[in-house]
Amino acid sequence: MNLVIIGAQWGDEGKGKIVDYLAEDADTVIRFSGGANAGHTIVHNDITYKLHLVPSGIIYPEKTVYMGTAMVIDLESLFNELDTLEKQGIEWKGRLFISDRAHIVFPSYKQKDIEMEKTRRNPIGTTGRGIGVAYALKSYREGIRIGDIFDKAIYNILRPDEKEYVDKYKDLLEKMVVNLADIMAKEKNKRKLFEGAQGALLDPDIGTYPYVSSGSSSAVGACTGGAIGPLDIDRILGVFKAYNTRVGNGPFPTEFNNETEGELENTIRETGREYGVTTGRPRRIGYLDLVALKYVCAMNSINSLVLTHIDIYDDMKDLKACVAYNINGKETTSFPTSITSLENAKPVFKTFKGWGKKIGDVKEYSHLPAETKNYIEFIEKFTGVSVDIISVGYQRNATMVRKNIWTR
Ligand code: IMO
Ligand code: MG
Repeated sequence: MNLVIIGAQWGDEGKGKIVDYLAEDADTVIRFSGGANAGHTIVHNDITYKLHLVPSGIIYPEKTVYMGTAMVIDLESLFNELDTLEKQGIEWKGRLFISDRAHIVFPSYKQKDIEMEKTRRNPIGTTGRGIGVAYALKSYREGIRIGDIFDKAIYNILRPDEKEYVDKYKDLLEKMVVNLADIMAKEKNKRKLFEGAQGALLDPDIGTYPYVSSGSSSAVGACTGGAIGPLDIDRILGVFKAYNTRVGNGPFPTEFNNETEGELENTIRETGREYGVTTGRPRRIGYLDLVALKYVCAMNSINSLVLTHIDIYDDMKDLKACVAYNINGKETTSFPTSITSLENAKPVFKTFKGWGKKIGDVKEYSHLPAETKNYIEFIEKFTGVSVDIISVGYQRNATMVRKNIWTR
């Protein structure tokens, strides 16, 4: 059984918490793409774990986790992250493995990433983690895969600085590098979670190009990155927040207007902890964009939506969601390709009545206030996809599951 979990917005939807929650019933977790640009927060037993590269299943002591083929891995960051986890009581040796086909991010890539951003026609607000450079070199056929460092012929053509860098980690890596394709073939009948990074709107092909990241953050990425075929996917979960956020540059039709909605923006930023886990930047915030969400559901065959941060709206009298764009006087529900159109898109909002009470302790969908259910049911009707999991807080148990998602 293979479940794919992707971000259905511009990243930071709460994928880490959801993967951690679902990992209890899984045998393995495979993070399939991205690199140290990601930031996944997990809160368990009052400890906050901040993950960038390591798959979110790591918190469970008995689970095996894999870093997938389409990941780009900064080795220094990885071993720093593992050191921190070890200090937090997480034992990772013998249960964290890396696909031999994953690419290495060398230190020079980070420098180049920052330099390129300075001369870019459209500065995108990269996290500066060398991600774009690694994926560019991979496409240019100049990248180095982790498995390659154990191939004498390839090792010999590495530059001295590259050799010095990989030599520091070679012994540790030797025990971690695996042929993921072989393992996935053997574990065909196990329960596996394929964990995405970033979000579909940051995917270079279907996202808001050029304001995107460079790894595949859409559902198809789980196949190449997780070493399974498309027909082996049993369910695709799209995680989204009750509102939208974005870090870095790029169009954001429903973004709050600081003059009129500044107070609301601050409230959500503080209660929702809307600061980047990787860079600490305050995230841009706006109302839920259903036009974009519906597009993402269709482009990724999402058949279960996972709603997070709905509790952040607890104190609001009313709330809005965007149900169409008005672009140059014309109303549309089509998600535009043109960045200029998206920048000019004025959101058409539907207003919903707030519920005005705390829902963090609610354990069952039927016990949610009618107004909350009304908001959720509207989302389902608009997107045509059921909201099967609802998160009402950071803790693992602040999660409601409406149906068994371990089924096709
Ligand atoms: P998680 O997995 C939110 C954004 C950056 C920037 C653009 C390109 O935590 O959801 P890059 O460093 O990849 O060249 O940056 O993409 N970005 C993210 N935004 N969440 C993420 O990951 C992101 N990873 C990259 O802010 O605008
Ligand atoms: Mg994040």
